[in-house]
Amino acid sequence: MDPSTRQLDWFDSEHARSALSALDEGALPRHIAIIMDGNGRWAKKQGKPRIFGHKAGVVSVREMIASCVELKIPYLTIYSFSSENWTRPEDEVTGIMKLFVEVLSREVINLNKQNVRVKLIGNIADLPEVTKAAFEECVQSTANNTGLTLVVALNYGARQDVVTALRTISDEVSAGVLCSDDINTELISTKLSTAGIPDPDFMIRTSGETRLSNFLLYETAYTELYFTEILWPDFKRDALLDALLSFQGRNRRYGGL
Ligand code: FPP
Repeated sequence: MDPSTRQLDWFDSEHARSALSALDEGALPRHIAIIMDGNGRWAKKQGKPRIFGHKAGVVSVREMIASCVELKIPYLTIYSFSSENWTRPEDEVTGIMKLFVEVLSREVINLNKQNVRVKLIGNIADLPEVTKAAFEECVQSTANNTGLTLVVALNYGARQDVVTALRTISDEVSAGVLCSDDINTELISTKLSTAGIPDPDFMIRTSGETRLSNFLLYETAYTELYFTEILWPDFKRDALLDALLSFQGRNRRYGGL
C-alpha cells in the first residue's frame, strides 16, 4: 500500500509508515470484530477509577473507526457491553450507560462526516431508556450512509442470540412457514442479529486474555484470531496496523488443504 495516498495523520509515526507500506490493500479483512478489553486495568495502573479507563477506551474506538474508514474496511464490530457485564458494580454500569449517551451526542456528527452507518446487535430493549434512545437516534441518523458499517454489540451474548434465532425458526416450523429440512447453517445465519453482515474475517482481543467471552460464537467458525497484551486504551493505529500485518501472514484454508 502506498502511504502517500493516505491521509496526513497516517504519517505521524515511522512505524505506521513502514507498516502501511508492507500492507497489501487488496488483502485486508472485510470485517474486523474487536473485544475491547483492559480498560479497568489501564485505569488502575494510573490509580484512577475504572470509568476513567472506559473514557480513554472511547478514544481508541474513534481511532479504529477512522482507521477502518481510511483503509476502506467495510465492517467493524465492537463488543461494547456484554449481557454478562450487568454483574459489574452498579456505579460502573451506570457510568458506562451515561458514557454511551455523552459519546453518541458528541460523535454522531463525526460519524456522518465519515459516512459511517451504525447498526446495533444485542438485546437493546433492556438498556436504560436514555441510552436506548441515544443509540436508536444514532442508528436512524446514520442509516443512509454508505461507507463503513459500525456494528455496536450492546447487551449482547452470542448464546442468547442463537437461542432467539432457534425460537424464531421453531415458531416458523410450527406455523408451517418452514419445514425441518429447510434448517441449515445459512438459514440460522439469517435469523441471528448479525443477519446480512458478513462473518468476521479477523477478531482482535486486547489485554492478554485469550477467550471469546460469548462474542459472535456462531459467526467466528473460520475467523482468524489475534490476541495482544496491549490494554484497549493503548490500542491505537500502529497496533491495528501490526494486527493487520499478522492477518495478512495467515493462510486461511477454511478446513481444506
Ligand atoms: C472492557 O474492559 C470494556 C468494556 C466492558 C466497556 C467498553 C466500552 C467502551 C470502550 C466504550 C465504547 C463506546 C461506544 C460509543 C460504543 P474491562 O472493564 O473489562 O477492563 P478490565 O478487564 O481491565 O477490567
